[in-house]
Amino acid sequence: LTSPPPQRDAADQNFDSMFKLLIIGNSSVGKTSFLFRYADDSFTSAFVSTVGIDFKVKTVFRNNKRIKLQIWDTAGQERYRTITTAYYRGAMGFLLMYDISNQESFSSVQDWATQIKTYSWDNAQVILVGNKCDLEDDRLIATEDGQRLSDELGFEFFEASAKDNINVKQVFERLVDVICVKNAEMEASANQQPNNKDLDIKDSQESHGACAC
Ligand code: GTP
Ligand code: MG
Repeated sequence: LTSPPPQRDAADQNFDSMFKLLIIGNSSVGKTSFLFRYADDSFTSAFVSTVGIDFKVKTVFRNNKRIKLQIWDTAGQERYRTITTAYYRGAMGFLLMYDISNQESFSSVQDWATQIKTYSWDNAQVILVGNKCDLEDDRLIATEDGQRLSDELGFEFFEASAKDNINVKQVFERLVDVICVKNAEMEASANQQPNNKDLDIKDSQESHGACAC
C-alpha cells in the first residue's frame, strides 16, 4: 500500500489511480447532459431518459497523477432504483444533482443523500450540483437555499449548466481533489497504526488504486 507507484515512461497511456464516480438525482435534472458535456463537450436539447445505468471513462491529470475516472450515469426514474443503487458500493465520489428550475428535484435531495448513506461506502465524497443555472428566468431554487442544504448535509456545492458549459469541469475536478485529500488522510492514519488489521480492509476497498496526492 505504501510502496511508490511503478515508474512509467512518458508514452505510457496507463494511469496511476482509478476513481469510480456516480451521478445521481431525479429524472431530467441533466445528469446525462452533464456527463456528455464533460466527456465529449457536446449538448443536445432532446431528452432521452436513461435506461438503467451507463458509464463513460475520462482520464484527468491532477497533482502530477494520471487519474482514470469511471463515471457512472444513473437513471433518475424510480423504477430503476434497484439497479442503480447496486452501483453505489465502491463509488468514491458522487455528484448529487438537482435542477434549479424544478422544486421537486430539490425536495428529493435529502432522499438521495439518504440513499448514499444507505448504499455507499462511508468515506465517499459528495458534491451537490444545482444544474441548469442558465435558466435564470425559470429559477425556483435560490442559490442560498442550495448552499444552506449542502452545508446541512456536509457536501460541497456548485451551481452549473451543462447547456452553457458553466462549472462542469470545475465540479469534476473538485470532486477528484476532495477524493485525493480523503485518500491521503486515510493513508496517513493507517500508517500511524502499522499493525492495524484494517489495512487489509482498506486495501480491498481501494482496489481501484489509492491516490497518494
Ligand atoms: P434521466 O436519465 O431520466 O435520469 O434524466 P437526466 O438527469 O439524465 O437528464 P438529461 O441529461 O437527459 O436532461 C434532461 C433535459 O434537460 C434534456 O432535455 C436536456 O437537454 C436538458 N438539460 C440538461 N442540462 C441542461 C442545462 O444545463 N440547461 C438547460 N437549459 N437544459 C438542460
Ligand atoms: Mg440520463
